[in-house]
Amino acid sequence: MNSSTLLPSPGPPGVLDDFQMSCRFSNLGNHSPESFDSVSCGACFYFIYMILDHYKASYITQLCEDNSGILVCPSTMDESQCHCQNRALVYNLPEFALNSDAIEDGTRVSLFALPVFAQLMLQTMRPSERETLLDIGAGPTVYSALCFRDVSKRVHLADYVERNLDVLRKWVRNEETIDWVPTIKMIKRTEGGPVPTEKVCEEVEEKARGLVKSGGIHFADVHQEVVVPELDGKQVDILVSIFTLESACRNYEEYCRCAQNMMRNLRSGGRFVLGSVLEDDEYNSGRQTIFHLLNLREQMILDALSACGLDVANAKKYVLDGEGVMFLMATKL
Ligand SMILES: C[S@@+](CC[C@H](N)C(=O)[O-])C[C@H]1O[C@@H](n2cnc3c(N)ncnc32)[C@H](O)[C@@H]1O
Repeated sequence: MNSSTLLPSPGPPGVLDDFQMSCRFSNLGNHSPESFDSVSCGACFYFIYMILDHYKASYITQLCEDNSGILVCPSTMDESQCHCQNRALVYNLPEFALNSDAIEDGTRVSLFALPVFAQLMLQTMRPSERETLLDIGAGPTVYSALCFRDVSKRVHLADYVERNLDVLRKWVRNEETIDWVPTIKMIKRTEGGPVPTEKVCEEVEEKARGLVKSGGIHFADVHQEVVVPELDGKQVDILVSIFTLESACRNYEEYCRCAQNMMRNLRSGGRFVLGSVLEDDEYNSGRQTIFHLLNLREQMILDALSACGLDVANAKKYVLDGEGVMFLMATKL
């Protein structure tokens, strides 16, 4: 079935006027669009990228205490110059946001693509074939648990950064973390039907929370043969990984190896869902490079997945060239 027949509108949804934007990588909650560009995104870049060894080696970073932004200094510079009063080194606000198109678009596209893939799974897999889901590189986010809440019984969220895992653990304990209501509204909008009430949003979040309680929150490292040691070799029915491999890998060889490592967690006949940034290799602040992504063409990704035993020829795919994002769902042969 063509996925566009599932939903009233085949394109990704636009941002609603009354929709409070949430920075999908931030653990500082939701903000109005004005502050979204600053506090939230500065934190997002810090927690997701700058505390990884990969970037730590090249930059000294910290969040400025007055919330004015994120301090980014090349590690080669004189340390005495690297402080938040040196405004030339503080990145935040619109300048920051102007160059983060792929990530913002990625958020929008994933909240379109994931519910569509969830629908397809409901239609093409029996309940017993889709009981477990693992999201590798989930960060502090619960997108997969929210979008696949009616698909699976157990959701495992995994990430490399302990701080992200802490945010997820807090969420599972019902402690205040990210406000997921705007995200849930957007997911429900993609799924069709009326604007959800507060109660409906709560029910969606509670269901997702229950699934993660039944699954778990785990450390993962895609560079290791055993990516999620706590799973003890158990394979899942659905493997999800959104915007992770291209940020975790420095070259294509590494990318292919990490993809192989990840795929060991998926059973034969199971589904793999990938979200990837395409043909982008860095985010610039306009003054200097902030961080690097592995620059991948669509065909490189398809080749890597094909080599991992995925049925790429029959994959469902959304490629938004203008937005530099691809979402794909494929079956493991
Ligand atoms: C761009 S974020 C994506 C987060 C989330 N999937 C989303 O869509 O918002 C990339 C994630 O990959 C994780 N990551 C980086 N290196 C990793 C590694 N070696 N193994 C597993 N995850 C890794 C980071 O901690 C981060 O949470």
